[in-house]
Amino acid sequence: SDTEKGTYAHYMLKEIDEQPFVIRNIIQQYQDEQNEIKLSKDIRKAVGNADRIYIIAAGTSYHAGLVGKELLEKVAGIPVEVHIASEFLYNQPLLSEKPLFIFISQSGETADSRGVLVNVKKAGLPSVTITNVPGSTLDREADFALYTYAGPEIAVASTKAYTAQMAVLSILAMDAAIAKGIDTDFDAIHELSIVANAIEVLTDAKDEMEQIARDYLLETRNAFFIGRGFDYHVVQEGALKLKEISYIQAEGFAGGELKHGTIALIEDGTPVIALATQQSVNLNIRGNLQEVVSRGANPCVVSMDGLNRKGDNVVIPKVHDYLTPLASVIPLQLISYYAALHRGCDVDKPRNLAKSVTVE
Ligand code: AGP
Repeated sequence: SDTEKGTYAHYMLKEIDEQPFVIRNIIQQYQDEQNEIKLSKDIRKAVGNADRIYIIAAGTSYHAGLVGKELLEKVAGIPVEVHIASEFLYNQPLLSEKPLFIFISQSGETADSRGVLVNVKKAGLPSVTITNVPGSTLDREADFALYTYAGPEIAVASTKAYTAQMAVLSILAMDAAIAKGIDTDFDAIHELSIVANAIEVLTDAKDEMEQIARDYLLETRNAFFIGRGFDYHVVQEGALKLKEISYIQAEGFAGGELKHGTIALIEDGTPVIALATQQSVNLNIRGNLQEVVSRGANPCVVSMDGLNRKGDNVVIPKVHDYLTPLASVIPLQLISYYAALHRGCDVDKPRNLAKSVTVE
């Protein structure tokens, strides 16, 4: 069943492997018989009425929100702000005239996010929850809900929920574009099916990912992740994954920011994992890599077919520029998994953490 590990040593690995099926399931759930996007009219109206969307979330769901902002702005032309729930709760920014709140939460139980929802409802403002758990608190209390259909996620480290959240956000963005009459050539459903195949290729490459974990992360105290554009959001998620299960101090940085301070931390042999999946900034991130390599860093490059260079460690299959996060996160999830495994950590139940944080 969904909640059993079967032949897997850990839920995390099982859940990483489930991602192609999750994406295909989302495609099915959000498509009608005419192959049109199936979304409730109410949600369509709520998005259409908004002059600005406020995405509220925590942790990995926040990282999905960062990608969601790009999708909603680039595909549907709606301005979006993404906020960490606990920050928004006690330091609310100025709101636009017609805001719409989107709460992203795997569990639907995160207290920080719920705290914001309570205030939003008090203020009479509209809300949508994107959650993996129908019937959860956020699902029940928000005006509208969208589901991620990822099946139960048991491992504390979130994997399939993250890709599922971004997939749903891409469908929401495309739906909003169509509703607004925007001429977009972004076909979320079609592109997601390509993503599902790409994820499958990457989850089949476990031996390579395990070897990278051995080569770069067995002994190290710290690790840096760098990226630009969409890749910047994904490296933040990659760093969170690595630190929460392997206890390696890891941070995700915008490639162009290194020279403003962080580069001081680079020593001989410091692992720097770079994502290079964005055509528009490929030259720039390659330049940033040179900067750290010349200071002694040990570079590990995850690039995309067509943008790859000799010596790159992982080349992900070509997917739409806007959906690269769903594919590029897979190697980062697997590398984190194997790093934690070989450092003797409790992969599914890391110290100090709970699956859902129901206290503020
Ligand atoms: C991710 O690996 C985490 N363990 C954590 O950051 C999580 O994403 C966060 O607590 C939010 O949870 P939620 O999606 O259930 O609201």
